[in-house]
Formats: sequence, C-alpha cells, structure tokens
Amino acid sequence: MISSKLPKMFYGGDYNPEQWDHETHLEDLRMFKLAGIDMATINVFSWALIQPDEVTYNFEYLDQLIDRLYENGVYICLATSTAAHPAWMAKNYPDVLRVDADGRKRKFGGRHNSCPNSPTYRKYSEIIADKLAERYKDHPAVLVWHISNEYGGDCYCENCEKAFRVYLKKRYQTIEQVNKAWNTNFWGHTFYDWDEIVLPSNLSEHWGHNSSSFQGISLDYSRFNSDSMLECYLLEYHAIKKHIPDSVVTTNLMGFFKQLDYFKWAKYMDIVSWDSYPGLATPISYTAMAHDLMRGLKDGLPFMLMEQTPSQQNWQPYNSLKRPGVMRLWSYQSVAHGADTVMFFQLRRSVGACEKYHGAVIEHAGHENTRVFREVAELGKELQNLGDTTLDARVQSRVAIVFDWDNWWAIEKSSGPTVALKYVEQIHKYYSAFFHRNIQVDIVSVDSDISSYDLLLAPVLYMVKPGFAAKLEQFVAAGGTFLTTFFSGIVNEHDLVTTGGYPGELRNLLGIWVEEIDALLPEQKNSIVLKETLGALEGVYECGMLCDLLHSEGAEVIAEYGEDFYQGMPALTRNTFGQGQAWYVASDPDNIFLEGLLAELAAEKNIKPLLETPQGVEVSARTKDGLTYLFVMNHNASPQSYDLGNSSVRELLTGTDYTGQISIEARGVHIFERTS
Ligand code: GLA
Ligand code: ZN
Repeated sequence: MISSKLPKMFYGGDYNPEQWDHETHLEDLRMFKLAGIDMATINVFSWALIQPDEVTYNFEYLDQLIDRLYENGVYICLATSTAAHPAWMAKNYPDVLRVDADGRKRKFGGRHNSCPNSPTYRKYSEIIADKLAERYKDHPAVLVWHISNEYGGDCYCENCEKAFRVYLKKRYQTIEQVNKAWNTNFWGHTFYDWDEIVLPSNLSEHWGHNSSSFQGISLDYSRFNSDSMLECYLLEYHAIKKHIPDSVVTTNLMGFFKQLDYFKWAKYMDIVSWDSYPGLATPISYTAMAHDLMRGLKDGLPFMLMEQTPSQQNWQPYNSLKRPGVMRLWSYQSVAHGADTVMFFQLRRSVGACEKYHGAVIEHAGHENTRVFREVAELGKELQNLGDTTLDARVQSRVAIVFDWDNWWAIEKSSGPTVALKYVEQIHKYYSAFFHRNIQVDIVSVDSDISSYDLLLAPVLYMVKPGFAAKLEQFVAAGGTFLTTFFSGIVNEHDLVTTGGYPGELRNLLGIWVEEIDALLPEQKNSIVLKETLGALEGVYECGMLCDLLHSEGAEVIAEYGEDFYQGMPALTRNTFGQGQAWYVASDPDNIFLEGLLAELAAEKNIKPLLETPQGVEVSARTKDGLTYLFVMNHNASPQSYDLGNSSVRELLTGTDYTGQISIEARGVHIFERTS
C-alpha cells in the first residue's frame, strides 16, 4: 500500500535560494542530483519578497524557482511565508507587533512574532495563502503545503486581551461561571464585568515564566494562546483548501513544545511534520519519545521529518558536530518511529545573519567534497534503494503512555508542592524504562481510543478531564493494566481540587486515598520497601521528590515507605478492578525500581522485547502488508553484537541474509524484513 499522503519517501529540506544568485542556483541543482534530493521546502521566509507593499504581489521569482526545481526532479513543499511579517507591515500596522509578558511592545525584527490576534496579520496571511494556492493549485511539483513555520510564543497586547474576553464568553457564557472556574473569591478577584478581566502577565498574575497567582486564569490563557495561533493556521488552511480540497497541508511542529496543544492542532493537519533538533547530550530515548508523540498526534499515522541538521545547529550554546554516522543513524531512528520523509534544515548554508553557522547539506565550501555532503549523498542513495518499502508502515504498540498539554500547563504553573516536578521528565522516565528494553510505546491523548492497549500509563495525571476517569475504569474493567503515580487525580479541568481525598476521581479505580503529600529536598530521600518479591524486584529502593501519604481502600499494598514518620505506609499499590489492575506509584522511584516494575507489568501481559540487545542498541519496528521492518540502531561509538535468533532474515541495506549472533558497527543501522 502506498501512502495516500506521500507517494514516496522524500529527501530534501529547507531551501532559501533568495539568498543566492542564479549561478549558485544551477550549482545547487547539480548537487541536489548528486545527493538524491527530491524535495525542497521553499518560500518559508519570503513574504517581504513576494509582497513588497499592501497591494503588490510578485510571484515571478517563485514561478521560476518552482519550475526550475521541478524540471530537475525536485518536488516542492510550499511554505506560505507567513512566519515573518514584512517590515512595511510592521511600520504601517503596528497591531502585527506583539507585546511581551512585561508589557513591552516589540518593534520590527526577528521572526515568528506576529500577534496572533492582529487583524492585519490575519488579513494578509490569509490573502497570501489564498493567492499562493490559487496560483499553484495545478502545478505538479507542489505536493505539500507548509503553513507558516514553528508557531509559538505568546502576546499580551490589547487585541489579545479583547480576544481573550471573547474566548471566555464562549467558554463560560456567564461571568458567574468564570468566577466559579477560577475560584475568584480568593484574593478578592470577583469579576462583575468581562472588561475587568485582563491577561495574566507579569503586570498582573504572573512572575517569571511558570509562576501564577491564579492558575485557572493562566491555564485558560495558555489554551487561548494555543487556540489563537491555531486560528491563524486555520485561516490559511481553509484558504488553501478552498482551491485545492485534496491538498496535503501541514505546519512544522517541535516535539514536546509546551505552548501549543498539538493534539488539538493535529486534527487540522493532513500530515504531521516536525523539526527534530536533539543536542549531542539529549538522551536518544528522549528523541525516540518525541517521534512517538508526533506519531501519536494522529493516532499512529506516519509523519514527516521536516527538519533536522545534517551537522550542527547555531542556536545552542555549544554547537557540536554530529559525529560521522550520526546523521544517518538519527535519520533512520526517525523513520523507525514513523517518519515517511527525511529532510534537513537547510540545503545551503547562508552567508549572513544568525544561521550562517547552522549546518547545511551544501556548506560554505560550496562543493561536494565535504564530509557532510558525502554522508548526505550516501544516505540519499540508500533511501532511493529502500524506495517505498517502509512507506506508510505502522508501529504496533501494546503499551501506551497518556500525554496531555492542559495537564502539563497546570502541573508546572502549580505553586507547590515542589518546583522539582517536571511533567515531561516524568513521562520520559516511564517511557525510557520501556525504550531500554526494546518495547514500543505509543503516546496517546486523553481522547484517544485506548481500548486496544494492554498496558496504559498516565504518570502524574494531575488533571482529570471530564469523562476520563470513567474511560480508565472501563479500560481496566475490561482487563487492561493501568498505572499512575503521585500527584494524580488532584484537580478538574479548571485546576480546581476534587475534594474528599486525592486522587479524587481516580480513587475508586485505584482503591486508595491520599491524605497528605510530602515534598522532599533535592538531596533528601526515602525508600520503597517491597513486602514480597515482585518479578525481579525485591528489597529496598530509593525514592524522592514527592511522597504521598496514603491509605488503602481495598488495594493490595505491594511496597511501603522505609523511613520517616510515614514509614510503613503504602508506597506501591495494586487494585484489582473488574478484569484488570490499577497500580499506584506513590513517590518518584529510582530507575532500577521503575525498570523492574514495568518489566513485571509487561511480563504479566506477555509483552516481550522486539529483540534483546546491548545497551544503546535501539530496536523499533514498522509493519505493513504482513511484513515487519525491524530497525536495529547502534547508538554507541563502538561496535556491538546481538542475537538475531535461529531463522535467517534479510537485511535490507546490505541485501544480506543474517542469522544468529551478528555484529553491528558503531552508529550502524540494520533493517530486517520479516513476516509479522
Ligand atoms: C527551526 C526553523 C528553521 C531554522 C532551524 C535552525 O527549526 O524552522 O527555520 O531556523 O530551526 O535549527
Ligand atoms: Zn496580541
């Protein structure tokens, strides 16, 4: 089956030829051929070029560029250019300029900083998208539409403030409802008129980035801000769809990016695309998890790797080079987790401004005799040979982890019980326990269909949204295993505490109630003492950060605290609920405990590793048409070996059949094809 979205695995990236002369363009085309590049993302930052004033539009340059690329076998991912407004627009219509959290109005400069509620920005961005779609709707080169670029940031201008009130009216209908949702009798905040409500900024409720006196207001602002940008996206999206109903429209996301609720956005993306920029110190499990989130946004559909650097970034404090083989390895890692394209930022390195030291396929040397170009060209050849083999193949996971943006916002805006609690870190902790054992995980939302999973985890499910507790009960009653942790079930969607004992709506399912929550200092620890052995777990393990003081209301106590005045109180519980089980981890345990616990939960469900491999050798699989593509990726800087089993399997990159113990070179990749 060929993906209905993309006909092949495209290879290419962001291309900014407006920074170069014609001779260089011709040289680019020659080198694209050498590298096997067949897709270019263009027009990302050319708004000022194609619209020099309010009424003039110049598309000749784009016409020629698109034709020239197409004639040379390069397809187009066409950006709408709206990620940076033109200087004339900022000068004539200051409403496009954002106001920051300290109340300072920006001037023209930078990018990604148009006010999402600016009437001018909305008007002109919609017009340009409309014009581009009308002009290129029949052009065979244009395969993907790329709206704006990396939406993000926030704005506190008067237009946003007005729009916030409109948003609240729609959400709450009456001012009484707002007062209730925000608990405004606290600190005398009772509102009598919508106009009394101001944006939560450093001039009102906030201090610093994550601190708010009124979490309810701040939470609604986060939702509003994400929605405001989504509205901008949608204006362009519909402008394109009007001309090309079957167009493939996307915008490039950024993995675990806090400000935008990507689950909401993905509903309006024909294909998810994202920009992957791990640093050399980023755990590979974290990158894998980000890919899995991107795949999870559309319930497992493949996504585009829109950007990655072929060599280095410019915006980190220390921009190390990707070591030889790492670009290839990480490209395959993205494919292994669901990418159907491999693309770069950027195809040619700029000579001026802040990205001139950002890596590119064509470096400042300007020719093909560079390490980076050779590696890109070699990968290009390999991908051509792979052809559509893995295209549209799906990752099949029996384990899922719940991720939720509202929960993220609410947890980290919380004043107390600890500043140490970071939601994504907790998600990653649980994720990596599976990752290191080569057990695949889907990242799902609270709205996803969870019924097909055997094991569902929701670490730090602080906020329980309407209906979710019942959904979890149904999942467990039907035989699923569920696990959640400390600081779960605390609040509803408004960040109002569910009274009667934590974990509120999850009490019934978990068979416990939490009376108090202790926050430990960074160097302070408690311990988890197993009452009996549990799989490979026995004895005492370390825990810290937060310790729930809880009582069983029917759950079996599997482990207890070893220290302090709550020594002997439950630290790990298991509740049988219908056909299934619901686990509660009451503190933040060490990794050995966590890996042991999750291994046991997986084993009880007969969930096995895809393959046993040495540390740092990742295994992931994609499946289609009865065939499974097993990706084995050695992230170590030294060769490793692993046992493939008795039957002989074909390795696709070398075309060789392997069996038994085999070795994999440093940063090497194997892709095996076997019947599923
Ligand atoms: C982002 C942007 C690109 C470029 C790269 C540099 O992903 O989308 O325009 O700035 O970062 O890493
Ligand atoms: Zn604004």
